[in-house]
Amino acid sequence: MPNIEFDLGEKRVFPPGPRAVQGAAISGMDAYHRLCEHARRDPDGFWRGLAQEHLVWKTPFTEVLDESDAPFYRWFADGRLNASYNCLDRNLENGNAEKTAIVFEADDGAVTRITYRELHQRVCRLANGLRSLGYRKGDRAIIYMPMSIEAVVAMQACARLGVIHSVVFGGFSAKSVHERIVDVGASLVLCADEQMRGGRAIPLKAAIDEALAMGGCEAVRKVLVYRRTGGAVAWDAARDEWLHDRMAGQADQCEPEWVEAEHPLFVLYTSGSTGTPKGVQHSTGGYLLWAVLTMKWTFDIKPTDVFWCTADVGWVTGHTYVCYGPLATGATEVMFEGVPTHPNAGRFWQMCQDHRVTVFYTAPTAIRALIKANDAAPETHPSRFDLSQLRILGTVGEPINPEAWMWYYRNVGREQCPIVDTFWQTETGGHVITPLPGATPLVPGSCTLPLPGIDAAIVDEAGHEVPNGQGGLLVIRRPWPGMLRTIWGDPERFRKSYYPVELGGSIYLAGDGAVRDKVTGYFTVVGRIDDVLNVSGHRMGTMEIESALVANPIVAEAAVVGKPDELTGEAVCAYVVLKRARPEGAEADRIAKELRDWVAKEIGPIAKPKEIRFGDNLPKTRSGKIMRRLLRSLARGEDIRQDVSTLENPAILEQLRVAQ
Ligand code: WTA
Repeated sequence: MPNIEFDLGEKRVFPPGPRAVQGAAISGMDAYHRLCEHARRDPDGFWRGLAQEHLVWKTPFTEVLDESDAPFYRWFADGRLNASYNCLDRNLENGNAEKTAIVFEADDGAVTRITYRELHQRVCRLANGLRSLGYRKGDRAIIYMPMSIEAVVAMQACARLGVIHSVVFGGFSAKSVHERIVDVGASLVLCADEQMRGGRAIPLKAAIDEALAMGGCEAVRKVLVYRRTGGAVAWDAARDEWLHDRMAGQADQCEPEWVEAEHPLFVLYTSGSTGTPKGVQHSTGGYLLWAVLTMKWTFDIKPTDVFWCTADVGWVTGHTYVCYGPLATGATEVMFEGVPTHPNAGRFWQMCQDHRVTVFYTAPTAIRALIKANDAAPETHPSRFDLSQLRILGTVGEPINPEAWMWYYRNVGREQCPIVDTFWQTETGGHVITPLPGATPLVPGSCTLPLPGIDAAIVDEAGHEVPNGQGGLLVIRRPWPGMLRTIWGDPERFRKSYYPVELGGSIYLAGDGAVRDKVTGYFTVVGRIDDVLNVSGHRMGTMEIESALVANPIVAEAAVVGKPDELTGEAVCAYVVLKRARPEGAEADRIAKELRDWVAKEIGPIAKPKEIRFGDNLPKTRSGKIMRRLLRSLARGEDIRQDVSTLENPAILEQLRVAQ
């Protein structure tokens, strides 16, 4: 493939990546189209073949897809398997026992390696320990742990027993953990004493104590604590136990629980436009198949690769591309405890060099932050490091702006590595629209084309496909194995959120707006169409932040909107009406800080509003509806040219125009 750039319409197109081309899983666009065609013509045969080839089944399935209760689709339903068996035992049997499974780099730079054999032993010991405490298939466990080998061990040990895990990101507050413990009905908590980030210790066990003290968590019988820092923790001797004590003396073999393919592997909470976070429920068989396929298709994972996904296990990316996908494909993966800017902004590139990373996967927000920092401190610039072993780069979580794409392509990939801009969601289980390395010509800012078997389209509000070049709603018209199965405990909300009757009731509505290129048909995902914000690639509901704000006794009313931000993609902008007079000057600054800290405590630091504006009121229609589009315009600093004739109190706009 010659290293050329050529023009297609107004867009620049880049070759699929010279270094990735040889022997890629999907070798070129012809192979891609053949797979798509197979999936369209014979979906049953297509998925059957893949599920037989890529997973080990204890009991083979007979039926591929059961659509009788759509949209509650069931895949491979009469087959039985175990996710941890597929990730670990399978590697012991096929010659990977002594291969490094995880290279873990701690915040302070200490490196720990663990082979597949050792990882298997540890998972078995913990699973046996949990079994001895009476935990069984179908029980739910909350995992609140830092990036660590132990976090993967905890998730895999749950999977081994058929215990459904629900990982909560360490940046969420005690209150958020509490909500999830209650909603999922957890009887077990796995946490750490503290986590280390950028040289700072942050307590985790304390948040669990606080959450459990809030009440309604009586089902929790045990809290197992991984000793990470040795920092002081409060102890309830009847309930709390050190993880290492529970594992000590346990056998290092553990017969897995063979679960039916539809048995929930995990529930992961994510934000929607209304209400509390939704417990997205994934299956064992279909989810794991999708994790394996996307590792092979999108990352072209090979036995010699060193894979590094920088996402935290608290997010779906850390589930699919840290805990399950890499292990189920027998890869060696890097796991990182710390932050990209500590001890300096060269940390990612240093680690790519030291561990000879070949496939690197991170978020656009991290890239944007590093562009700034690397330019300011040339010794941290990627050009100072030996990155010659990299062959594929990836991004996830939010749109990548073409400038960041170009910087990544030039400086990190040295124009030799394709960038796979992977579009997907907590709900989709793994990538759904993404370039294929070595096959798909790349356009900066576009996630290009759907994976084989993904029937993505852009439709209008009545469900009719719109012509290319015209924006609309992103939908997926046929089920795929990795899709979410339901919302934990709330099937009606599942149906309403993702399969609205307006679109016929059986078509998956992603919740994103998108457009296809007139010439190439490539997809570009523009952003959420609902009240979900994407700040640094973290999903947040405006409603959740509003509820947190109004829970403060001094707040009368609050409205939250997103505002474009150079670094974080979107930033949270909150409009607040206090129960007392509108504050100004230093007083406003003080209260704004107080409210920011309040939101951090209620939800977590990631939800802190960047900007808070105080008003005597909010712009409302005469019927009392808050006019959010006006608030969005004000946040962007735009002149209000919209029709404000329905506005009850036009004068308020002037007041809310300026940031405090
Ligand atoms: C956004 C993260 C543009 C999108 C895996 C989606 C993207 C939400 C991309 C899901 C991308 C994710 N280009 N937008 N490549 N990837 N998004 O559930 O708005 O945390 O709906 O899953 O992130 O976020 P979630």
